[in-house]
Amino acid sequence: MKITAIAAVGRNWELGRNNDLIWKMPEDMRHFKQTTEHHAVLMGRKTYESIGKPLPNRRNYILASGGSIFTTEWNRVGSIEVALENAERSMVDHLFVIGGAQVYKQVIESALCHEIILTYIHDTAADADTFFPTWTASPITSMSTANR
Ligand SMILES: NC(=O)c1ccc[n+]([C@@H]2O[C@H](COP(=O)([O-])OP(=O)(O)OC[C@H]3O[C@@H](n4cnc5c(N)ncnc54)[C@H](OP(=O)(O)O)[C@@H]3O)[C@@H](O)[C@H]2O)c1
Repeated sequence: MKITAIAAVGRNWELGRNNDLIWKMPEDMRHFKQTTEHHAVLMGRKTYESIGKPLPNRRNYILASGGSIFTTEWNRVGSIEVALENAERSMVDHLFVIGGAQVYKQVIESALCHEIILTYIHDTAADADTFFPTWTASPITSMSTANR
């Protein structure tokens, strides 16, 4: 199973503010949907709350410390390992790690992530409160970027 982190970042690696996105760009939203649809997504509890519902046409894994619950619409997982085991068992071909900062950091630092897809947004936000981690020590095999 391939594991890819996908994010949109500002010039200073900004990710979010007040548990929401800073920039909502239709073109990037379309790119995100096209890339992740019909695969699986793994996200932190805060990102899930900010989206407000499971993402359609994708197997949703929501990471939270309350333990694991599996349903037909979403799966709450108590650890990244549980998500990976379940995804392998469910024959998921591609798992996208869709944030937020806490979850990106863990999958990148533990070298679980094979690829990073970044959208660079040509803007800054002084009041951002979450940032994409640095990953120099991790064996990322490929990285693709787009400028918006
Ligand atoms: N720009 C982008 O591309 C992008 C993408 C996604 C999100 N974001 C932004 O990022 C921000 C949210 O990021 P965040 O870092 O604050 O939160 P987050 O990563 O979305 O969620 C953190 C929560 O996930 C759970 N969690 C994390 N690691 C865990 C582990 N190993 N085991 C069990 N549970 C674990 C915990 O939930 P519990 O507290 O319930 O235990 C933790 O509080 C928002 O502003 C959002 O809009 C931006």
